[in-house]
Amino acid sequence: MEAIIAENVTKKFKSSILGKKITALKNVSFQLDEHEHLAVMGPSPSGKTTLLKTIAGIYLPDEGDIRVYGKSVRRKTEEVRKITYYITPQIQLNKKLTVKENLKYFTKVAGRELTEEIIQLLETAEINDEVMDKRLETLSETQTITLKLAIGLIKKPRILLMDNIFSSLEPKIKETFTETIEKLREEITLIMVDQDMETLSKLCRKTLILNHRGEMIMMGSVEQLLKNYPYKYDVEVTLKNSSIKEKIRRLGYPTQTIGDLMRIYIKSENEILELTSKLLKMKEHILKFEISGIDMEDIYYWIINK
Ligand SMILES: Nc1ncnc2c1ncn2[C@@H]1O[C@H](COP(=O)(O)OP(=O)(O)OP(=O)(O)O)[C@@H](O)[C@H]1O
Ligand SMILES: [Mg+2]
Repeated sequence: MEAIIAENVTKKFKSSILGKKITALKNVSFQLDEHEHLAVMGPSPSGKTTLLKTIAGIYLPDEGDIRVYGKSVRRKTEEVRKITYYITPQIQLNKKLTVKENLKYFTKVAGRELTEEIIQLLETAEINDEVMDKRLETLSETQTITLKLAIGLIKKPRILLMDNIFSSLEPKIKETFTETIEKLREEITLIMVDQDMETLSKLCRKTLILNHRGEMIMMGSVEQLLKNYPYKYDVEVTLKNSSIKEKIRRLGYPTQTIGDLMRIYIKSENEILELTSKLLKMKEHILKFEISGIDMEDIYYWIINK
């Protein structure tokens, strides 16, 4: 069953400067099956947040439409809002209410009780009895995001949309969040944007990539992307001396430079041996190098730079 069918979605905003129109999404079409987990990636900005908010019925498309479990976001906006939940570090809940009051409100609206799992999730972010009586404005960013996810679990949406929450979380709670989402794998359709590529690749088997004009440049499973990607490994070299950069580039492999760090892309195990011996000859200019299999982050940079 299709959870989402997006057809030629275009979304424009009127820019506050000069009143010019900005196209945030242009002709985006895709389908997503129920219970799939999709990572939306693209440079900043490329319409990622706009896409998530349009799926949640927070924004409406100017052209085209999205059907969420068969319901048109244009015509059945309220129904779409009921079955989706958009979570971001930015959007504020009622800050003047206490944690307990917020939870009470949402359990009442949803007609559900707090489960043991939700209470445990809150506890990992140290939201205990004492914190329950505090107003939201006194909570840390991690606690606020945790509360938002807890409310999401109370609501039990069919589609959960997470916008950059992992990169704002304290590392110690990331794992609990990942586990919580993993447990829901058979129950929810997940769409997420995150700068934390590691979590993104852990949770999502599919990716949708947007370019800076808000156009979809590709969508596919991570396996498909890996198959089309020409490189197998990347070697990350930390330089002691930046004058060596040019010499490394002249070795003829594709490279990417970020400050004193160079990433070299290679295709085979043979090339690892070749490259390692070449790098060892430059060892007085190199602090260290590390070989790893390519991941979603490498593919992402490759695609957006193509
Ligand atoms: N509510 C709004 N009003 C006016 N312009 C907006 C609004 N929301 C988004 N935009 C514009 O639409 C474009 C896409 O923004 P969007 O926030 O969707 O990008 P993004 O990919 O999420 O970016 P980032 O990676 O920085 O989060 C940007 O040019 C942005 O300024
Ligand atoms: Mg965004």
